[in-house]
Amino acid sequence: MTERQKKMTGIRVCLVAGLMALASCGNPGGSASESSSSAAESGSKPAPAGVLNVYSARHYDSDKAMYKAFEADTGIHVRFRESGAPELLETLKAEGTASPADVVISSDAGTLYRFEAAGLLQPLDSDVLKAAVPEHFRQADGYWYGFAKRARVIAYDPARVSPEDVDQYTDLADAKFHGEVCMRSSTNIYNLSLMGELIGRLGHDTAQAWARSVVENFARPPQGGDTTQIEAIAAGECSVALTNHYYYVRMTQGSDANRAAAAKVALSFPEQDGTGTHVNVTGAGLAAHAPNRDDAVTFLEWLATPAGQRWLTTETKEFPIVAGVDLPKGLEALPDFHQSDFPLEELGTHQAEAQEIYDLAGWN
Ligand code: FE2
Repeated sequence: MTERQKKMTGIRVCLVAGLMALASCGNPGGSASESSSSAAESGSKPAPAGVLNVYSARHYDSDKAMYKAFEADTGIHVRFRESGAPELLETLKAEGTASPADVVISSDAGTLYRFEAAGLLQPLDSDVLKAAVPEHFRQADGYWYGFAKRARVIAYDPARVSPEDVDQYTDLADAKFHGEVCMRSSTNIYNLSLMGELIGRLGHDTAQAWARSVVENFARPPQGGDTTQIEAIAAGECSVALTNHYYYVRMTQGSDANRAAAAKVALSFPEQDGTGTHVNVTGAGLAAHAPNRDDAVTFLEWLATPAGQRWLTTETKEFPIVAGVDLPKGLEALPDFHQSDFPLEELGTHQAEAQEIYDLAGWN
């Protein structure tokens, strides 16, 4: 057995354990849908030449516009299927070699890793993508490439917490925050991926101790999503929490209630004096049995163009991954920050260990 095969065998174990708990980004409804960028066609049959089948775990109107823009640029028609990542993964497995999928898109390197580990992606060696996407934001063998970035930051109540008290992830474990920490479930992929980096940076034992101390600081049992944690801080239920940056940015442009809550909360980008803030990606890869491989490569490389980057991030409020592309509206209000260069493919290899650490700590 090669090193890679050994690695992948280990991954499959964690894949089964983690699958049911997998939370997908930007998937409020969670129900599967099949659609087309320009006509109501079925996504369940192999696409004829010039048609690309995209399976996406994202649910944004801007993605539908993105597919149309790609079609206008290239003449390649896009059929897309949007669903939660666990459902997409099961669909791809069930379809096997007959799958019409050409491209798989999902948020979080930890989730992309689950597709990779299940044998649902194939490697792509693209000089275009290797030049556009920094090495730590893509899988080393080309199974997936990151196309948009998100930072996992500390949200805090600036009326009760000083910025210097939340400038490291380890601050969340400090006794000064006893009864002050709100968190979402540890089974959420964002928390698993952050723990993956903490394991890699700090080692197993220190990461375990951190998780135990954070749990001791909980204001309430883990619940809700990232937005829920920001709302809880605004409501005074707790003073610190973890969130991906874009949930906060969307709130600043949301309803009156959203904007009022966001106005009471500040963001800290941790580890500015050290290894940098934990960042993750929305990424994509070639489906293992892509019937339209050439068109799929064209699409993936298009995602790294300025147009592709803008469409990917305009509504999500993620950061473009390609240098020099304009930021989506709202991100200009965030600070320039030092980001971690931790290799994202390691978040997956640490996933089972991360869940075990959270479970032992009692972080449900
Ligand atoms: Fe998300």
